Amino acid sequence: MAQIIGGVATTHVPSIGKAIADRAYDHPYWKPFFQGFDYVHQWLAREKPDVAVFFSNDHGLNFFLDKLPTFAVGAAKGYRNEDEGWGIPVARPAQGDPAFSWHLINALVADEFDITMCQEMLIDHAVTIPLDLMWPGAWPVKIVPIAINTVQHPLPSMARCLKLGRSVGRAIETYPQDLRVVVVGTGGLSHQLDGARAGFINKEFDQLCLDKIVNEPDTLTRYSIHDLVALSGAQGVEFLNWMAMRGALTGQVTQAHRNYHIPISNTAAATIVLDNHAQSARKAA
Ligand code: DHB
Ligand code: FE
Repeated sequence: MAQIIGGVATTHVPSIGKAIADRAYDHPYWKPFFQGFDYVHQWLAREKPDVAVFFSNDHGLNFFLDKLPTFAVGAAKGYRNEDEGWGIPVARPAQGDPAFSWHLINALVADEFDITMCQEMLIDHAVTIPLDLMWPGAWPVKIVPIAINTVQHPLPSMARCLKLGRSVGRAIETYPQDLRVVVVGTGGLSHQLDGARAGFINKEFDQLCLDKIVNEPDTLTRYSIHDLVALSGAQGVEFLNWMAMRGALTGQVTQAHRNYHIPISNTAAATIVLDNHAQSARKAA
């Protein structure tokens, strides 16, 4: 059976792609951010996932304001990136796992999530930057991208995204193949790119979210989308992707690593690694 080894969440700021292309890892601006990935690399080298399920938001490369699914699940053999205009190199394609994607899609629809299924899908910086951060040089995993609308209101609630993640988590654990699965949430934390509050960051609220997401994610569902925009910025709502990632962790969860650094571009940059101690392992112990 497939096993969820844990979760990783990280910021997906496009300028990170430029820093990677320039190999600016030791530059004083970038070092405190990139250093936060040393542990992630060790963890991934030890845990060796086969597949990564990505919860992220599309920024207009696939879906634009005219047609915007609340939840969309990729079911493609591969996922290409295209030039989004950020001045960063176009990333290599990521490999898909259509059979696993269809298993998740079937389970989600059976569980009353009316998702959009995508047999073709492009991946934008919200997937390619985290892939590059987690596996610099080459991506040894297949992916299932799950796009959550964090762009065009009305957005799904924190509770809904947590439930989506829980449904995905249950579905992963019923997949008959022995896959090791990491779930990934991208974006956030607090940031606002436009309007009168452009550059807005809220360290206190970010710290609260980082604390609560580990073992009390349900307490965060008391924040409405409007609360979230007010407290975390118009783009800080990307935290919805983190909620879905957390929901997909079905076992006993412990924080293995956390890094928080202000700012990267306009964003409060954060990275966490959560271990998922599977129910079965706990029963056997
Ligand atoms: C930035 C952050 C984002 O989440 C994004 O999608 C694009 C840009 C930024 O801070 O520059
Ligand atoms: Fe973003």
